[in-house]
Parts: sequence; C-alpha cells; structure tokens
Amino acid sequence: MAPDPISRDTARRSTWDERCTAWHLLDRPDLGVDEQCLPPGSSSRAHTHDRSRQFFFVLSGEATVVLGRQTMTVPAGTGIEVPPRVSHELRNEGDTDLEMLVVSAPKVAGKPYAHRTRPLARSRGGLVVGSYLRATRRGDLRTVVDIEEALDTRQWIGQGGLEWHAAVLEDPRMEHWVLVDRLDRVLAFGIMASSDQPGVVELRRTVVAPEGRGQGLGRLLLRQLLEQARARPQVTTVWLDVGDDNTRARSLYRSFGFVEKEPPPWATLLDNGLYMEWNATSHEG
Ligand SMILES: CC(C)(COP(=O)(O)OP(=O)(O)OC[C@H]1O[C@@H](n2cnc3c(N)ncnc32)[C@H](O)[C@@H]1OP(=O)(O)O)[C@@H](O)C(=O)NCCC(=O)NCCS
Repeated sequence: MAPDPISRDTARRSTWDERCTAWHLLDRPDLGVDEQCLPPGSSSRAHTHDRSRQFFFVLSGEATVVLGRQTMTVPAGTGIEVPPRVSHELRNEGDTDLEMLVVSAPKVAGKPYAHRTRPLARSRGGLVVGSYLRATRRGDLRTVVDIEEALDTRQWIGQGGLEWHAAVLEDPRMEHWVLVDRLDRVLAFGIMASSDQPGVVELRRTVVAPEGRGQGLGRLLLRQLLEQARARPQVTTVWLDVGDDNTRARSLYRSFGFVEKEPPPWATLLDNGLYMEWNATSHEG
C-alpha cells in the first residue's frame, strides 16, 4: 500500500533551544528527512556525525554554514553536502526564518543539534580531578557563550556574546582562560585584565557551567586564576566587581581572602557592584 503523504501537520515534531523546530518527515534508521525552521539569530552548535552524510537544502531564508574552517552563505534554492566527521555549524544571521530540508543517511540520532556533544557528568567532586586551566581558543567560544547565556548566569555578569569574547581573545591586555576536564570539555571560564595601576590586575569574570556548580569547580577555577595572576611579575593585588546580591560568588571570593572595600577612584563598577580586593599576602580560607 502506498504511504500517505506526510507534512508538518502529520510528522513527528521536535524542538531545541526553545525556538527551533524539526519535523521528521522520514524517520528510518537508514535515512532521515527533516524539515527544519531556525528563526533569526538562532544557530546549531558546531558538531560532527561519525557516520551520517547530510544534505542541507535551503527552502527559504539564508543559512550561514561553517564547514570545517570555511564559512559560506547558502541562499534559498541551494543546498550543501556535509560528509561524515566534518565539523559543521548552521546559523541564521538573516531577518527571516531559515527553512531547510535536511537529509541524513543514516538518520542522525537524538535532537537535531545536541546542546553539548559530550555532556558533563554530575558526580560530586568528580569533575575537579584532572581538570586544569588552559588558554581559551576560538573553538571554545561557542561553549563559553552557551555557559554564559544559561539561565542563572546572565544576570550576574556584564557584557558578553561571541563577538565580545572574540575581541577579548585578540586584546593583549586581557587573558581569557578555560577550565577543562581530561576530555578537554570546557567546564568553566575566567577573564583577567591588566590595569594601569602598577601591580594590580582585575578579575573580570569567573563562571562555572550551571550543571557543574557546587562541586568545587569555582574554587579550582579561582585558585588557578590567582596562580596565573601571581605568576605575573610584580602583581600584588587582584580586584573584582561583584553584584551585592550575588551571595554565592561573594562567599567564594571571601573564602579566598578577598575583602570588600571602598572602591578606589580608578575602579569602574556596575550599578550594584561591590569592590573586592585580594592581596598576594592573603591566602585561601
Ligand atoms: C560563583 C560560581 C563561579 C561558583 O562556582 P561553583 O563551582 O558553584 O563553586 P564551588 O562548588 O567551587 O564552591 C565554592 C564556594 O562558593 C560558595 N558557594 C557555592 N555555591 C553556593 C551557594 N549556593 N550559596 C552560597 N555559597 C555558595 C561557597 O563559599 C563554596 O565553598 P564551600 O563549598 O567550601 O562552602 C558559580 O556559581 C557561577 O558560575 N555563578 C554564575 C556566574 C557568577 O555569578 N560569577 C561571578 C561573577 S562576579
């Protein structure tokens, strides 16, 4: 018997990032055909598939596709092939919905775009063992921004976004660090900035991925950032600006010997920001 025609109305539907939708028009192990809609400003994360070869055909709007190291524009009425094991990312940088037909052979398992290709474990303390600080690379920035944009993070920090972080990486006065585990998964990040004041550096940002919090990663991140600061010649003072209602962060900083003080005239703080200062003579409590 011939199958019934299938459409958005009758196909199984899934969503990701709360805004993007896929209708699974053909859902067989050897072949998947999805119709997908990505609203303006949305994107997939860079990811690869071990076995699946895919073809993305743009029905309307325009896709920005990052394939390996190459970025290209794929307008409506054109398509692009993505071979297995090639990293790819799709973005809708236009003003209208990006609608695509996505053919995958074999079918891609799971959500169309996994939030993290390698999810973090939740074992208490387990993530701390073997994790270390390394300089951030451009390829880490998507995860950094995901962490930053998560609920319960954004409210505590100032500027951000992919472009802002990319500019920080290029800025010789700034140091961008990530804390990674043994699999090189980004668990947390921190930013330090030079100051015009002799012997002083500013800790601009300390953020742990929400699913990794409460396991000692914040403590490990801060300890290693302070070691980096100390390794700089003549640095004696590290200061930071923390929201007065950010009790979690304030108690972490206090336990390392940061003290809340009247801000010096050169320190620029957020509206509800408190000035906290650490001196090389202080030690972790
Ligand atoms: C602040 C932050 C970095 C702490 O990271 P974390 O991995 O949860 O912290 P840890 O598990 O290492 O805990 C370290 C200390 O933080 C404090 N802390 C952590 N969670 C806390 C909570 N829910 N309430 C109060 N204090 C808390 C405690 O002093 C704790 O030490 P303890 O476990 O010995 O009591 C993390 O919560 C975060 O990323 N928050 C959002 C971004 C942010 O606010 N950054 C700071 C901007 S200035």
